Amino acid sequence: MTEDNLDIIVSDNSDEKEVGLKNIEFVDCEIANTVKGVVIDVKNIYKYFGKLNVLNGISCEIKKGDKVAIIGPSGSGKSTLLRCMNLLEEPTYGEVWLDDRLITPADPYLHKSIICQSKTYKKLVEAEMRKRAGISQQEKISLAALTEKIGTEVAESISQDVIMNIKQNDLLKKNEGAKYSDALKKYNYRYNLNINKARQRVGMVFQHFNLFNNLTILQNMILSPVQLRLKSTVDAVKKALNLLERIGLLDKKDEYPSKLSGGQKQRVAIARALVMEPEVMLFDEPTSALDPEMVGEVLSLIKDLADEGMTMVIVTHEMGFAKEVANRVLFLDGGKIVEENTPEELFSNPQNDRLKDFLSKVL
Ligand SMILES: Nc1ncnc2c1ncn2[C@@H]1O[C@H](COP(=O)(O)OP(=O)(O)O)[C@@H](O)[C@H]1O
Ligand SMILES: [Mg+2]
Repeated sequence: MTEDNLDIIVSDNSDEKEVGLKNIEFVDCEIANTVKGVVIDVKNIYKYFGKLNVLNGISCEIKKGDKVAIIGPSGSGKSTLLRCMNLLEEPTYGEVWLDDRLITPADPYLHKSIICQSKTYKKLVEAEMRKRAGISQQEKISLAALTEKIGTEVAESISQDVIMNIKQNDLLKKNEGAKYSDALKKYNYRYNLNINKARQRVGMVFQHFNLFNNLTILQNMILSPVQLRLKSTVDAVKKALNLLERIGLLDKKDEYPSKLSGGQKQRVAIARALVMEPEVMLFDEPTSALDPEMVGEVLSLIKDLADEGMTMVIVTHEMGFAKEVANRVLFLDGGKIVEENTPEELFSNPQNDRLKDFLSKVL
């Protein structure tokens, strides 16, 4: 029996969906991100910190021009989701795509054609086929003969069941043989995007600004693009000065962050991300560390960016802002997207009890 023979049993039916423990969609291995206009495609991600299951099967598409607000109780996984979108965290399972490039390692569980190369798959399929054909594990028989005995239809259904079983019970091991590693490697090689490129294209702004206190404002702004060799120093400085002028802080360029107010620091942090000319901006509660009187200036800068067409994802507790700026709102609870809708619908007509409860506390 050659191992190759087992591959042909699997028909590729990429429309097929299953709902299982892992709720994984079959994704055709050869077709990457097929939906046009999707900038970030989060495919069924799970994140564990040790035994703590923080993300629990999240899929979402961020389309070009989208302004997506993410809301949800503290600890529901909002920051972790955002951090997975620019690979500050690597999801335990699942994939994140940026346009047609993969920014996480490929997840074998999302690819039938990779699973089919595994020793586990081959062993389970053969065992089940022998059982159906009434042929003991010891008896010599070719796979072709086995398939003939049970019929191709049964063989195919066994294959599908085995794939499902492998996905749902997380049966893939570290070592699944050379063919499997090759398939996985090839896929990564073909689609993976260099991490620095990914970070350039996806800007991130944090709750606590994360400016370097020992660097001036201008130095803070040009650090990443210059260090990552994404821009020459001259270009980076030019871009940074333009942005500082735009946010009205040009006169602070040589100050250190400690001389700035919270609102000013956060505006600099936003401008710093913009120096890279990202396609998408991720904001993680950009106003929650600010004194109330400074919230407005930061929100107004974000709103300007939104109005200019910037694609963005914002984790926020500012429901009014979410309503005003977002075209879509995701409600996260327990590491899952529990409800997703336009802000009008989601806020005025929430369906899920946990969302109703959450809104009653924050609105
Ligand atoms: N690096 C980490 N190590 C261990 N646990 C973490 C880590 N990051 C987040 N967590 C835990 O994951 C859960 C979700 O965190 P987070 O994504 O920050 O939620 P949210 O932003 O919705 O408040 C929390 O229980 C948090 O303690
Ligand atoms: Mg958070």
